[in-house]
Amino acid sequence: ASMASTTVRNPSFSVINSDDIDYFKKILGESGVVQDEEKLDDANTDWMRKQKGSSKLMLQPKSTQEVSQILDYCNSRCLAVVPQGGNTGLVGGSVPVFDEVILNVRGMNNIISFDKASGILVCEAGCILENLISYLDNEGFIMPLDLGAKGSCQIGGNVSTNAGGLRLIRYGSLHGSVLGLEAVLANGTVLDMLGTLRKDNTGYDLKHLFIGSEGSLGIVTKVSILTPPKLSSVNLAFLACKDYTSCQKLLYQAKRNLGEILSAFEFLDINAMDLVLKHLDGLRDPLPSSTHNFYILIETTGSMESHDKEKLEAFLLQVMESGLVTDGVLSQDINQASSFWRIREGIPEALMKAGAVYKYDLSLPPEKMYDLVVEMRGRLGTEANVVAYGHLGDGNLHLNISAPQYNDSILSKIEPFVYEWTSKQRGSISAEHGLGLMKANKIHYSKSAETVKLMASIKTLLDPKGILNPYKVLPTSLLSHS
Ligand code: FAD
Ligand code: MLT
Ligand code: ZN
Repeated sequence: ASMASTTVRNPSFSVINSDDIDYFKKILGESGVVQDEEKLDDANTDWMRKQKGSSKLMLQPKSTQEVSQILDYCNSRCLAVVPQGGNTGLVGGSVPVFDEVILNVRGMNNIISFDKASGILVCEAGCILENLISYLDNEGFIMPLDLGAKGSCQIGGNVSTNAGGLRLIRYGSLHGSVLGLEAVLANGTVLDMLGTLRKDNTGYDLKHLFIGSEGSLGIVTKVSILTPPKLSSVNLAFLACKDYTSCQKLLYQAKRNLGEILSAFEFLDINAMDLVLKHLDGLRDPLPSSTHNFYILIETTGSMESHDKEKLEAFLLQVMESGLVTDGVLSQDINQASSFWRIREGIPEALMKAGAVYKYDLSLPPEKMYDLVVEMRGRLGTEANVVAYGHLGDGNLHLNISAPQYNDSILSKIEPFVYEWTSKQRGSISAEHGLGLMKANKIHYSKSAETVKLMASIKTLLDPKGILNPYKVLPTSLLSHS
């Protein structure tokens, strides 16, 4: 059942009328006001096809000034707004629950400046991540984040979800690499925090409030981000381990022996591998000679090919000899490397093709992480397929339960068990995807009552009428209308 079915529309929100439409057309022009049914249908439906809103209006501003005018108007009319980027979010945060106005900054996709000396990129929030990656590639730089949704997600959406992804182990979270932001508050106030400094300790660093706040505090309109230089030597190994303990030991060794060149450490279990090979076209098992229980992708990035190769080969020899790794292959060219990445990045898509999916995104102590997967298999038996993968190097498990259809019997075996288990380990019930609609009421499993209360006060301070992304992030019981 959809979360929306248990949420009640806040009666203090207005319903859009023809005067509103006329006003928006006046400030944005015809092209900025989308009422086309097909486009709205897409924008009302989330990537997982689990949530569906009924918005009748999507606005596409072309400047910060227009965003400000829209919000000022919506706030005074008490019209609820859902900020939307590439709509690749996985927690139902990017689509309306009811008839909220969808605000998408895809028309704000200009690069404002790039400084080659410092690697600092300043751009508008609607830039698609993959376009930024290509732009920087030409300049000899890379983005400090990379994820499977890069072809559609926007940098504003990445910042608003504090997206982690495949390279966090090396370049850290966006709280480190985002140097500045411009954001527009619910009442239209433009906050210029678009600094390009590495260091600036002049009081509270408010940009951090917007990183990961999932559109609940303001619309991110511009981003300043520190980008690392593109290094000449990138290598990717696809390895197999017989058990989870070996994966963990392998991580420990990789951190020590590969040290500064380690740039990704991802894992998938055999269930994830089988699913990808079954549902995605054109992929081959890189280690076909036998089946394995676990697979690890290790990427290294460095500035000297001979040095990196020597290090990586010595490391691989050692872990194969000691039995930590039972089989492995080093990619020979860029095409082979991207086919290895496609296996890992294609898991979410394969899960969607396999049917219904219950998705959990947990931070857990790495030594305990796989115990949960095993327990979950015990609980579900043959009712569902428990699939595990994730950013092992960052202690982030993606636990996915795949079944032919959604049903309450399966759900009751998963929840609240999965949350209680995570809470007991002092883990996080959302490592990187956020809370959105699906997990807003679960926040207490990872945050204390006092913390959540302060979060709600900040929300009320910045958005007193609660028009920005209502029903999301915070428990509905704490939001102003209830
Ligand atoms: P949307 O999905 O449109 O929105 C996400 C949230 O941000 C919503 O709450 C929305 O209201 C808000 N928002 C969007 N734009 C703005 C803005 N300009 N101002 C204010 N609020 C805004 N996440 C990870 O962390 N790591 C991964 O490795 C990863 N891989 C993924 C792989 C796939 C195949 C998919 C489908 C998703 C993946 N995600 C991952 C989840 C998702 O968080 C990211 O895809 C991405 O950061 C979302 O960006 P978006 O532009 O699509 O935002
Ligand atoms: C990933 O790492 O593949 C993403 O976070 C998406 C997912 O968890 O399915
Ligand atoms: Zn992930």
